[in-house]
Amino acid sequence: MSRVLLFLTFVLSLTSCHKKGSGESVKFEQYYVQGEQLYMTHCSNCHQVDGSGLGLLYPPIKESDFMDRNFEEVLCMMKNGRSGEITVNGKVFNQPMPGVPTLTNLEIAEIATYIYNTWDHKRGIVEVTSVNPIMENCQ
Ligand code: HEC
Repeated sequence: MSRVLLFLTFVLSLTSCHKKGSGESVKFEQYYVQGEQLYMTHCSNCHQVDGSGLGLLYPPIKESDFMDRNFEEVLCMMKNGRSGEITVNGKVFNQPMPGVPTLTNLEIAEIATYIYNTWDHKRGIVEVTSVNPIMENCQ
């Protein structure tokens, strides 16, 4: 219940701070709610529901300087996975992350909207129109 209230407060604050029209905030809410479900299905096993990760196996995403600096790479890795060393908040991790190749660009936009607006992150909606060109340029 308190989570629902928090979420509503968040959506309201977004509407008032950024003076978005109500259509925009409804869209944000749809992306966010879908993104949360997809996160629970595809990501929370490793990164945990609260985004804190797991020891030195799975890096945290609730607070991550890597996520702040590598937005495009994060979108690509949801689909294509990633392996090799990675430094997150000064700690080195090195375990392969499997991608989810069946994710559509819309689903990637929804997950990105969720993870980039939860915990410490306040990026705003990640529209599918901005995800499309990024996915075409994944390495
Ligand atoms: C099987 C466990 C697993 C699953 C499932 C998984 N990840 Fe990861 N994730 C990892 C590991 C391990 C790394 C570090 C990869 C490396 O060492 O190159 C990582 C790295 C990351 C990073 C960059 C590092 C950081 O902490 O900021 C982000 C962001 C991320 N994952 C998000 C996601 C999202 C979103 C999903 C769901 C679509 C997901 N992951 C699914 C294990 C997983």
